[in-house]
Amino acid sequence: MTRDETDTLSNPVPEHRGKGRAVDRRPPIEAALVLHPRHGQDAALRGPEARLEEACGLARALDLEIRGAEIVPIRTPRPATLFGSGRVEELAAQVRALDASVVVVDDALTPVQQRNLEKAWNAKVVDRSGLILEIFARRARTKEGKLQVELARLSYEKSRLVRTWTHLERQRGGFGFLGGPGETQIEADRRLLTDRMVKLKKELEEVRRTRTLHRSARQKVPYPTVALVGYTNAGKSTLFNRLTEGAVLAQDMLFATLDPTLRTLKLPDGRPAILSDTVGFISDLPHELVAAFRATLEEVQEADVILHVRDISSPETAAEAKDVETVLEELGIDAHPERMIEVWNKLDQVPQDERAGLEGRARRAHELGSADALPVSALTGEGCEALLQAIAVRVDDDEPLDLELAASEGEALAWLYRNGRVTGRHETAEGGLQLSVRLDAQARGRFERLFPDAHTHPADELAGLVTAATGT
Ligand code: GTP
Repeated sequence: MTRDETDTLSNPVPEHRGKGRAVDRRPPIEAALVLHPRHGQDAALRGPEARLEEACGLARALDLEIRGAEIVPIRTPRPATLFGSGRVEELAAQVRALDASVVVVDDALTPVQQRNLEKAWNAKVVDRSGLILEIFARRARTKEGKLQVELARLSYEKSRLVRTWTHLERQRGGFGFLGGPGETQIEADRRLLTDRMVKLKKELEEVRRTRTLHRSARQKVPYPTVALVGYTNAGKSTLFNRLTEGAVLAQDMLFATLDPTLRTLKLPDGRPAILSDTVGFISDLPHELVAAFRATLEEVQEADVILHVRDISSPETAAEAKDVETVLEELGIDAHPERMIEVWNKLDQVPQDERAGLEGRARRAHELGSADALPVSALTGEGCEALLQAIAVRVDDDEPLDLELAASEGEALAWLYRNGRVTGRHETAEGGLQLSVRLDAQARGRFERLFPDAHTHPADELAGLVTAATGT
């Protein structure tokens, strides 16, 4: 890999990353100033303080030592430096006073802004996407995860090249001088990036193909699957450990998990299920990264039950939940209430006098037709037994369903053979069919929606019908 391919533009901590091999490399702890630019017209769900806190969390995940953190209001973003010149100078003084070697700007910076600010502050400047990419690069464990992150990084760099190009064109005043030296360099850079991306995509396809093979092998094991999703730091890994009593490292760090981790879970009735932990969601995930996550969230796509873990003690819990739902929607993940359980985690941090209200809200959520909500503490284990019970109910595929189908309902019959296990079949005197089928709760819901006219009977009623029909 050449230097041009990896070390050019978006490199957030260039001196330490060397030739772009950030994966597995831990730079020494550096002092950082974290800035959250607040744009005048911001109508974000989340308040600027929470955004700043999240940016600090991201910075800590990179082992940066935060010496200062500030919200910086911006009325008009400056193309050259984002901040106004007076502000840039003030911040330069602060960077010196704090002896910070890194400034995190929790916003998207153009390469030009990044370079100018680095010069003005005599420090490395990392923007939000750069920061997230760096964290992902360090956290990726599997081959697929690493390839995805690299692809995301290249795609980010390429988009920055495009922006540089636009910028140069604007500088030339739109006279249409083609083939200048700057353009040639950019063209060459772009070509290198494109070539590398094509190669990576091929590798990724190969890895994915193998993964799919593995997955389909697993699917033959008739275990239900449960996937954890949630805002970063909501407590997914802690819950994963609690539910499986295993030993995945839970850290008070953002993105402790990038690749899905699978483990077996024992339901209260002794049946096994497969639990998968996934990467934490964050707000404003750069779109290049959303694409990169698709595969890490494949487990979620196929899960029988999705546990949406929420930090219910966070003042931003509603906004965080919304972000998670938006990302799931963007990824085309079907998150209907029958498939979803909201896990209201960190109950131990909720003051005693607010708990009753919380439990009431959880009950109402269910009555209003939203996903079930269960307050738990992954840390103390409180509520986890009830959660396991709730999972067991949803993956309960043992429930037999007995139906009567008229001769004209061939489509329903075919559907049942495709989606369920037919355990009994008797022709009725009228030419119809009595069927005994095993369907999981989800498929049963689907069946009832698709074929509302099929007559279903609980098993004992059917016994009566059979008795009446046969006279036994
Ligand atoms: P990402 O990997 O960043 O997505 O985080 P995560 O959602 O997997 O969170 P993780 O399990 O790493 O927990 C984050 C922090 O919250 C850790 O410090 C945990 O100890 C803490 N935590 C998790 N669950 C609870 C809980 O029920 N109560 C309390 N008080 N803290 C919790």
